[in-house]
Amino acid sequence: MPSSPTLGIVVVGARRGQSFVRTVKAAGGELVGVCDTDPTALQPWKQQSDLRLYADFGDVLNDDRVDAVCLATPAHLHAAQSIAALAAGKHVLTEVPAIDTVEEGRRLIEVVEKSGRTFMMAENYCYRRDVLMVQNMIEQGVFGELTYASGAYLHDCRELFFHPDGSLTWRGQRRRDLLGNTYPTHAIGPVCRWLGINRVDHLARIASFQSPSLATAFFAARNLPHHPEYQEPGFFQGHDSCSSSILTGRGVLIDCRCDWASARPHDMVRYELQGTRASFLMVEGQPRIWIEDRSKTKPSGVAREWDPLDTYADDFEHPLWRRFGKQAKAEGHGGGDYFTLREFIGAIREQRPPEIDVRDAVLWSLVHPLSAESIRRGNSPVAFPDFLRSGPV
Ligand SMILES: NC(=O)c1ccc[n+]([C@@H]2O[C@H](COP(=O)([O-])OP(=O)(O)OC[C@H]3O[C@@H](n4cnc5c(N)ncnc54)[C@H](O)[C@@H]3O)[C@@H](O)[C@H]2O)c1
Repeated sequence: MPSSPTLGIVVVGARRGQSFVRTVKAAGGELVGVCDTDPTALQPWKQQSDLRLYADFGDVLNDDRVDAVCLATPAHLHAAQSIAALAAGKHVLTEVPAIDTVEEGRRLIEVVEKSGRTFMMAENYCYRRDVLMVQNMIEQGVFGELTYASGAYLHDCRELFFHPDGSLTWRGQRRRDLLGNTYPTHAIGPVCRWLGINRVDHLARIASFQSPSLATAFFAARNLPHHPEYQEPGFFQGHDSCSSSILTGRGVLIDCRCDWASARPHDMVRYELQGTRASFLMVEGQPRIWIEDRSKTKPSGVAREWDPLDTYADDFEHPLWRRFGKQAKAEGHGGGDYFTLREFIGAIREQRPPEIDVRDAVLWSLVHPLSAESIRRGNSPVAFPDFLRSGPV
C-alpha cells in the first residue's frame, strides 16, 4: 500500500455508493474515483477531471493510488470482492451483508486476519443517534441486566425485484433462490452491539420460522402479467416474513425478523431492548423509553408510561453525536454513513481494529444462512459455528 499521508478511496458500485462518494472527504479520506460496470451509473462524475472512473474492479485493485475500497455492489459479490481487494493490499469497507455462506465467512475471517489490512462492514444503523444513545445508557448502567432484545427490518422491496422488462434484478434473484432471514444485519447489528456480542457474550443458537411466500407472486400478477412463471408455486423461495429466535451464551433472548415483500409501509428501524430497570421500544422511527423511577413508575416499581427517548438526551446523548452530530446529519442517511466512514478511516490511520470488525460482520451476516438451515431442518435450532470466537479459524 502506498505510504501517502492521504488515504485514497474508491467507491465501487455507484448507486447506494453515491452516499459514500459524498461523505468520504468529510470523514477524512480522499476520493480517488468511482467504479461501476454500468457506464450510466458513472455519468454524474463524467465531467469531474479530478476523479478516476473505472469500469473494471480489477483496474481499481491494480491502481497504486488506491489505499481502500468501499464496496456498494450487489450483495452476492461482497465476499469475493473483499477477498480480492485484501489480496491486492487494499483496506475494505463492505456494504451489508458481508457473506452469504458459512464457508465464505470462515474464509473471509482467515484472509482478513492474515492480510494486516483493515476490514469493516458498513452497518450504518449501529451509528444512528437513537441506537447510540441507548448504547450509552447501557454503558451507564441505566438498563440493569439485559434480558431480551429484538430487531426487525420490514421493507416492501418488491419494486426492486424486477427490471422494467420484468426480468429479475439481483435482489429478485435472491428472492427466488434464498430462504430465510436474507437481510439480517440492520436488525441484528445494533442488538449485538447493545449486548456486547463477541465481547462479553456470544450468539449460541438460532431457530427460524417462516410465513408463506405469497406477496412477490401477488405483486407480479398485478404488474407483470406477461411473466406466468412468477405464478408457479415455489418459484420464489423467499418467504414473505422470516422470524429468528436467537439465544445468547448468557441466556438473553433475541428476536430478529426480516420481511422484504409484505404489502405495508416500511419500518426499517424497529427495535426493542429489555433490561431489569429500563425498556426501549422503537416502532415507525419513534424511539421511546421507560426508565425505573425516572419515567412514570408505580410505587411497586412497575412501569406506567413511555417517554420519548429525547427526554433524556441531555444526560445520555452519545459522545460521538454530541461532538459530531451536526456534521453527521449534514452528510445524509441519518448520520450513519458519516460515522461509518469516519470509523473505517480512523481505524486505518490509527492501525487499530474497527468497531465493526470481520468477526462481527461474519456473525451478523451468518443469521441468513443459519436461519435457512434451521428452516430446512424443520425449524430446529442450529448452533453458531465456533470459529466466530477469537482464535484461529
Ligand atoms: N446500509 C444501507 O443502508 C444500504 C442501503 C441500500 C443498499 N445497501 C447495500 O448496498 C449494496 C448495493 O445496493 P444498491 O441498492 O446500490 O444496488 P443497485 O443494484 O441499485 O446498484 C449496484 C451497482 O453496482 C454495480 N455493479 C454490479 N456489479 C459490479 C461490479 N462487479 N463492479 C462494479 N460495480 C458493479 C451495478 O452496475 C450497480 O450500479 C447492496 O449490497 C445492498 O444490500 C445498503
